[in-house]
Amino acid sequence: MEIKDKQVVYHDWESDHYDDKWSISFDERCIDYAVGRFRRAVPDVPRYDKVLEIGCGTGFFLLNLAQVGIVGEAHCTDISPGMVATCVENGRRLGIEVHGRVADAEALPYPNHAFDLAVGHAVVHHLPDLQTSFKELARVLRPGGRMVLAGEPTRTGDRIATQFKRAARIGVKLAAVVGGSDRILSEGIDVLPAEQRDAAALESEVDLHCFTPAELERLARAAGFTRVQIHTEELTANWFGWTTRTVEGMLRPGLLPERYPWWAYRVWQRLFAFDDTIARRFLPKGVFYNCILTGIAPC
Ligand SMILES: C[S@@+](CC[C@H](N)C(=O)[O-])C[C@H]1O[C@@H](n2cnc3c(N)ncnc32)[C@H](O)[C@@H]1O
Repeated sequence: MEIKDKQVVYHDWESDHYDDKWSISFDERCIDYAVGRFRRAVPDVPRYDKVLEIGCGTGFFLLNLAQVGIVGEAHCTDISPGMVATCVENGRRLGIEVHGRVADAEALPYPNHAFDLAVGHAVVHHLPDLQTSFKELARVLRPGGRMVLAGEPTRTGDRIATQFKRAARIGVKLAAVVGGSDRILSEGIDVLPAEQRDAAALESEVDLHCFTPAELERLARAAGFTRVQIHTEELTANWFGWTTRTVEGMLRPGLLPERYPWWAYRVWQRLFAFDDTIARRFLPKGVFYNCILTGIAPC
């Protein structure tokens, strides 16, 4: 299977349980997170008339930005038809009309200069041809339009996160030995029907890149973007985030209390504040996990 077919099969399969898997919500918690990432790039948070999201998934970024009035006309695209359908449906439930199209970020089906803002969250590291994708973003933005791409992993941040994921897996397995695996562990992908199991097994293949902040800046500039800026964030917050996400993914559904996502978010916020006010002063950009890239489309 080609890599883009794998992206479709895997993300189509994920599309109906993706929000649960990643604790995605469209309430204050995720609005706060999404707007916080956007504000890093664009502190004054204006309203944009026509907005495109690439690799929209279920709409986490676009819909949460839309809920605070940043987004006028909302357009979502993704290579996975399942994700586009879920995003449009999530929008409908929130009372937000979303124009959805199945589209590869490397060949966007829109005319030149069609949008005022183009956003993406956790999508660039899935794209095989980065240069072409950045050129497409520059092409569909009006001259002076803005690009905001968030949630892209740094190389060093990813290496450290891998160790936390490994430790969390060991911790849950030990807890299962003590507490009984039937009671604690989710059934995992082994119990899925063969077709779904094959789709789920693609998880380890769909993440294609990590970046240094300078690499992302270079890609944006090479595509013609000006006023390019990169911000990195999340050090201890990310270690906590990956640990909790790994634990959540391994546990039997329903085992964690209902308030758990809020508790986890509050802890994450405190660690984020530490990273932002103290760690950032002493450590290089590249050790923080998340990159947020912004730039202005060429005139
Ligand atoms: C990690 S998910 C992120 C989804 C969403 N943006 C979020 O933050 O929850 C990556 C998304 O990129 C999409 N994707 C992968 N390759 C793509 C491509 N070539 N063009 C457009 N979307 C793509 C996947 O289908 C998936 O929905």
